[in-house]
Formats: sequence, C-alpha cells, structure tokens
Amino acid sequence: MLTSNQIPMSVYLDNAASTPMDPRVFEEMKPFFLNQFGNPSSTHAYGRELRNALENARRRIAKCLNVRPLTLFFTSGGTESDNLAILGAVNGLGVKHIISSPIEHHAVTHPIEKLEKEGRVTVSWLKVGANGQIDLDDLRQELEAHPNSLVSLMHANNEIGTIYDIEAIGNICREYNAYYHSDTVQSLGKVALDLDTLPVDFITASAHKFYGPKGVGFLYVRKGIALAPQFTGGGQERDLRPGTENIPAIIGMAKAFELAHEEMEARNEHMNNLKIRFWEMLQTEFPGVKINGETDPSKCIPGLINITLPGEGDPMILFNLDLAGVAASGGSACSSGAVMGSHVLHHIGVQSDEMPRSVRFSFGKFSSEEDLEVVKNSLKSLNLLQVS
Ligand SMILES: Cc1ncc(COP(=O)(O)O)c(C=O)c1O
Repeated sequence: MLTSNQIPMSVYLDNAASTPMDPRVFEEMKPFFLNQFGNPSSTHAYGRELRNALENARRRIAKCLNVRPLTLFFTSGGTESDNLAILGAVNGLGVKHIISSPIEHHAVTHPIEKLEKEGRVTVSWLKVGANGQIDLDDLRQELEAHPNSLVSLMHANNEIGTIYDIEAIGNICREYNAYYHSDTVQSLGKVALDLDTLPVDFITASAHKFYGPKGVGFLYVRKGIALAPQFTGGGQERDLRPGTENIPAIIGMAKAFELAHEEMEARNEHMNNLKIRFWEMLQTEFPGVKINGETDPSKCIPGLINITLPGEGDPMILFNLDLAGVAASGGSACSSGAVMGSHVLHHIGVQSDEMPRSVRFSFGKFSSEEDLEVVKNSLKSLNLLQVS
C-alpha cells in the first residue's frame, strides 16, 4: 500500500499512468540537482563532468537493449518521442503513407491525424479484434498496396494491456521495405528487447512508467536512418533533439532502466500474482464481470487488467472509487468527473452503456496483497455496481 501526503490510506492501482519513483533512483539523481550542475555542452571541467555522466547514462541504457549508445536520443518522454518518430519520418524520410491502429495512444494517433488533415500523408487504420489484436494478414495487404510506408504499431496497449508480436510485425515490414515504429512506453522495463536482432526502426520510452522521473524518455533510431528534427537550436543529441539535456532526469532514467532489467522477472511475477488473485476475487464477488481486451496472460502486459463490472454502472465510478480510497483509471473524464468512454474500448467493441462500468487497474512493484482487500471493499461500497 502506498501512502501520499494528501491521501494517507489510499491504494494506488494506476501504475500504467505513472509509477512512484524508486528511492534508489532518486538517490542517484540527487548530486545532479545541487553539486554537478554544469552544462554538458560546455568545454570546461564542469561541462566535461556532465558530458561524461550523460554519455555514461546513454551507455547504461544501450547495454540493457543490446544496441549502440548513439542510436538513443534523449527526449522529454513518450509523447515527444512518438511525435519525433512520426513527424521526423514524414519530414525526413519522404514517408507518404502511414499504417497504424486506432487503439494507439493519442501521442501516436493525433500526429498521424494531423498529417492526414494537412494532406501530407494517407493513412490506413488496421481493424482490431475484441482482444485488441490486429490481423497480420491485414497488415500485409496494406503493405502490398503501400510499400515504403511508415508502420506505427505499439508493443503493449496502455488501456487493455494487449501485447503485439513486435518481431512478426517487424519481419513483415522488412519484406515491404517499410519503416517500423513501435511505441514501447508500456512494455519497456517489463519486457526485455534485444534491438540488435529485433526488426524495428524506432522505439519510444518514458521513464515515469518504470519507476523513474517524469518528463524524460528516449527515442531509439536504427543506425543509418536520418529523421528530421522537430526543433532547431544548439545541436544537442546530434541535432535531432536540440536543447540542454535534463541531466538529473536522464541519470535517474538510466538507473531506473537498469533496475527494471535486473529485477524484471521478480517484478513481473509479483504483479501477475496480484492480477490473478484480483481476477479470482472479482469473479467471486461480482459474477458477470468481464475482462476487456486480451484474456491470454502471455499476450498481456504484467499487472494490467481492464474490466467491465456487472450492474447498472456508475457514471462517476472513478470519482467514487477515489473517494473510497482507490486510485484506478478508465476512459477520459469530463469536467464533472463522469467517465466519457475510451477510444480503445470503443474500437474493441465495448458498448457505450458499458463504459461507465469499465475500469483499468494496473498493479506495480509496490502493490501488495493488502491492496486487494481495500479494492474489494471499495468496489462493494459502490452500490450502483450491484448486479441488477
Ligand atoms: C503507450 C503510451 N504512449 C505514450 C505515452 C506518453 O508518455 P509521456 O507521459 O511520457 O508523454 C503514454 C503515457 O501514458 C503511453 O501509455
């Protein structure tokens, strides 16, 4: 159970939205807030010290991914990395067609829609099944019609946890000479990727999803591919992402990423055990409850479960859960706090009347067995959820 200053006894089950920082990460960042403050682009000793720390962080992350350090570009997080990959490919590589899925994060769908609206690209949105999976034959057909496209298909879905077969998608992209971007924001730290062998050209990361700081991430760009930058300026990050690097955050991200790889198996086992226990409890207490998205645990990100509860539903379900001490998440909320629904659930066939009963719970490494009891009691206290 996590405590916060404002909410002393709350249960935090929204780790897919953000994770608490690991204290070991914070310890490693501390000197870079106060003592080691130079600008890594300066040539004097203060600058050189920071340049070393920066390049060391790049090497540490690269080692976890089995890739050359200079293929990693530090950014402000997942949103910027996704935008940079997509806009950078259109502006720098002459991409004229994009193939994606309608259940991608908005950091992917919105730049693609903007490019389409501006008449700069045409777009194929692949159909998705009730489990959130795409049909690889559909992808193949689209690539046959549009070779040399950019394919943007995430690794793990942030709302329903569905994992795509990144290797199979990448191999098909290679056959048709297409660039492949995968938003790996939700999977990095939970799934080990070997970028030396994986047929992917761009992947995106965000440190606050793996117990690192917020506002920092990276974009991997396969060696030899020249994306166009979105900003111009001081030439940092080999001109692809100019701007003085956020050193404390980058150091923290490197530490968090290393820890995630060292502890991956134990963390995943812990989160999946909690998820299994949670699902058993839900089936006992709320007969008729269903899972949204992938039900095969081997094709779902550890610790994430999206459910629709039986009963009439509660348009304020997340708000009421919050009042009952549980932080979870669902579709976007309007200003009154009512759940408006989610584009992901909509595209996998969840009906609009089911949206007010749909909730995403995401366990983390700090989640505990005690949390399950609290969430059970909180759910039971929402009387609108009783089976009608
Ligand atoms: C799949 C996915 N992509 C991109 C993002 C955006 O990342 P950031 O919060 O670092 O901008 C998120 C964050 O929720 C995400 O889950």
